[in-house]
Amino acid sequence: MAETFDLRIMGGTCLTPSGRIETDIGVRDGRTAAIGDLAGASGALTIEAGGLYVLPGVIDTQVHFREPGSEHKEDLESGTRAAVMGGVTAVFEMPNTSPMTTDRAALDDKLDRAAGRAWCDFAFFVGATAENAETLGELERSPGCCGVKVFMGSSTGGLLVEDDETLARVLANGSRRVAVHSEDEPRLLERFEIAENGQDVRLHPQWRDVDVALIATQRLLRIARAAGRRIHVLHISTAEEMPLLAENKDVATVEVTPQHLTLTAPECYDRFGRRAQMNPPIREARHREGLWRAVADGIVDVIGSDHAPHTAEEKDQAYPASPSGMPGVQTLVPVMLTHVNEGRLTLERFVDLTAASPARIYNIANKGRIALGYDADFTLVDLGAERVISDDWIVSKCGWTAFDGMTTRGWPVATVIRGRIVMREDELIGEAAGEAVLFSECLPSEARRP
Ligand code: DOR
Repeated sequence: MAETFDLRIMGGTCLTPSGRIETDIGVRDGRTAAIGDLAGASGALTIEAGGLYVLPGVIDTQVHFREPGSEHKEDLESGTRAAVMGGVTAVFEMPNTSPMTTDRAALDDKLDRAAGRAWCDFAFFVGATAENAETLGELERSPGCCGVKVFMGSSTGGLLVEDDETLARVLANGSRRVAVHSEDEPRLLERFEIAENGQDVRLHPQWRDVDVALIATQRLLRIARAAGRRIHVLHISTAEEMPLLAENKDVATVEVTPQHLTLTAPECYDRFGRRAQMNPPIREARHREGLWRAVADGIVDVIGSDHAPHTAEEKDQAYPASPSGMPGVQTLVPVMLTHVNEGRLTLERFVDLTAASPARIYNIANKGRIALGYDADFTLVDLGAERVISDDWIVSKCGWTAFDGMTTRGWPVATVIRGRIVMREDELIGEAAGEAVLFSECLPSEARRP
């Protein structure tokens, strides 16, 4: 009798750990159950993937959805909808929400809110503070928690760990990798008058200058090494930090964003004004080149979007009252595939940065590769498709993107999460059935698998 599957993905070029293979994939009970010729098998559903690339599901390990949200503000439903429309299969949400995610009740509340509303799989960071430092070791093991997040410099929201002593206390409690926003708060305060007096968003990279980032990363590496604690340094924006991070790869992994790899100052501020304002800032072209060099050299581990979907009205406030951050979860895949097509990275490196490395550095139990037994999460892409990104396509409540008008080559055409097709050809399909991501360092005692 013919083998039967819940879903067969036929004839795509699959990016597997063994290389690119033109083959079929069979899915059963949400997991990859067969890789090979499945022409003789049957499937309840079939995707004809000839001419497409089948990638392990793209994991965006830095988004800000800010549940509970409102009519105009992004929430877990709209944010995860944007994710799957852009080919993203799992997201890690940051804790600078209102209320802040700094205790078990707030983490549990997020899990409750995500149930039946999240379109993709999800996990939540717990935010470090001077008050909760001693409880972080326990908090980081909560269900659905991807780890601790530290803000060394203030950004959106009130989370802040500004001094070395508190940072050392935070890093001394717990064992999982700690994600860090590395900007130096004392120097930010010292220089704030540049922004305040100038009232011009083009001053943003001067206020939050190279030394703001470099000094914080130097402090962070020193304290992490002393504590013997793994760290993940988020959204690196300067060429200067990269050699330092390269010397410390035993303790530090590194994230860059598509926007820092694509946009440059001052052009982005001339064109997009305060919509291009984010922390740390978009800087001059030499930094973008330094980041690309670090991608090529293997210093960079992960691409995260830092999706921060402030509304157009919020962004219209006069600088520096205008909030920092731009949406990005929906545009990560087409923007980065365009760089693939333009020869800046290979498709294999894209998979490494968006699936294999997120799984490796956060110890995700069962995602990040196309392999038997793993969750059947796939991002199907048409590498030849030419499209123009436009505000109309953005399903985030903010309804805008700093990539509006960009001609892209390479487009996500289907999103499959644990065997369910949730996006096909720009159409949302089925229902919001995202689940909490499992981590191998803290599996629940009754994990999904025996
Ligand atoms: O620009 C930013 N916006 N950078 C951050 O680190 C936080 C984010 C936000 O939450 O809006």
